[in-house]
Amino acid sequence: MEREGRASWMKYGPVVSLFVVILSFWFRSPQNEVLDDRLDTVLSSLLRAEGKVGVNNVARPKVAVGFGGCVDLIVDGVSLLNKIGLAHTDQPLHHDLIENEVQLAQSFAYFFAPGAAAERFVLNDTFFSELVEASRDLPGNRWAIGGNAPRNSKALTQICWWWVGLQMMDNFPFQSGEHGQFCRRGYKEELFHYVILHADSLGMNEQELPNLLSLLKGSNITVLSDPNPRVATVLDQMREVYRIVNLRSKEDSNTSSAKAKPLTRLHVHTLAFQAMIVTHGSKWKNTMSATAKASLTANRHVCGSDDIDPSKARLIMDDSFSVSQREGSVRIPLQESRPVSCWDEDDYEICVAPVLVCTEVYQTAGGGDNVSAAGLVLQI
Ligand SMILES: *[C@@H]1O[C@H](CO)[C@@H](O)[C@H](O)[C@H]1NC(C)=O
Ligand SMILES: *[C@@H]1O[C@H](CO)[C@@H](O)[C@H](O)[C@H]1NC(C)=O
Ligand SMILES: *[C@@H]1O[C@H](CO)[C@@H](O)[C@H](O)[C@H]1NC(C)=O
Ligand SMILES: *[C@@H]1O[C@H](CO)[C@@H](O)[C@H](O)[C@H]1NC(C)=O
Repeated sequence: MEREGRASWMKYGPVVSLFVVILSFWFRSPQNEVLDDRLDTVLSSLLRAEGKVGVNNVARPKVAVGFGGCVDLIVDGVSLLNKIGLAHTDQPLHHDLIENEVQLAQSFAYFFAPGAAAERFVLNDTFFSELVEASRDLPGNRWAIGGNAPRNSKALTQICWWWVGLQMMDNFPFQSGEHGQFCRRGYKEELFHYVILHADSLGMNEQELPNLLSLLKGSNITVLSDPNPRVATVLDQMREVYRIVNLRSKEDSNTSSAKAKPLTRLHVHTLAFQAMIVTHGSKWKNTMSATAKASLTANRHVCGSDDIDPSKARLIMDDSFSVSQREGSVRIPLQESRPVSCWDEDDYEICVAPVLVCTEVYQTAGGGDNVSAAGLVLQI
């Protein structure tokens, strides 16, 4: 899932993504030099951290990535709603599935206001085709490969790795009837048993994290979570996901023939920061540099440029953060010259890096997958 100001319609998997931008809320104060200096230092320090290690081109490890792939048709969400005459709805309302234009407009309004990332399945093929048709002739539309599997594979193949299998991509393009079968709600238990318990690493955004946690705890899915959560909240949720998944995978490997694997890496990206948990002694390397790279990639992707321009960036993470919501938890100051904070806990290391949030948005669609992939490539 991604946070975006444009909607991306998947051509072959009828999921409609509803997106949002809160970047416009930030304005640059009249040239505040202290802030600008601070930003420059954070940027150069992150670049240094990223450049400390190279990509492993020698070992050529085998990598399998899932879950889901599609072709995105990327258009400006508001323009599309205008075109189909739906721009003005005064009733934000959440729908699990989208069946018609009213539900689309209401869901869009629901997620747009708080600036939350969202993705919903379109149950109605006729309506979905109409959306695709309407999007085709919108100015500025473009096609892109979407979904986390192809995004990750693109990142990995760009650096010449050999690599095996794209889960869920084998029957691409999907035939009618089977398309979108993985998007329906009931798939989540299966996703847990057949994918999550066998994954070494998970990457997700701030909406998916509380959802996964709800799934693990057997409670209801959180429809809309805080789009700009604090570091302490996210870290507590990550610790819990890490603990529960590893507990369940231990139980599972005792009872099932297909051995579950321990989860040794967890990467969560939010608008304001990147956070990683990596198990001590696992095969993942360079956690600090990978966290820095993920953070820089967020800016590069959204600004649409490899060179980061500090005048188009803003730090929105607090000056210091608490490592947990528990009382008496340590506070860590954000040090400009060492912006990635890493420390040890239990059997894992945690790293947190601030994001230089892009303020001149070129694209947001695909950002989450792009950031996850960037974090991964330095760690293998
Ligand atoms: C499905 O979409 C068509 C075309 O927009 C619409 O006429 C129909 O009412 C929709 N069906 C439902 C159940 O909303
Ligand atoms: C990530 O985004 C950058 C900048 O837009 C782009 O150059 C790169 O190809 C993207 N990588 C993937 C894997 O999509
Ligand atoms: C979960 O959702 C069901 C069905 O919508 C509802 O009946 C139940 O009260 C919810 N439980 C919690 C803990 O929110
Ligand atoms: C798994 O099995 C081993 C040995 O049979 C046992 O010691 C251990 O407690 C079991 N673990 C779980 C989580 O059930």
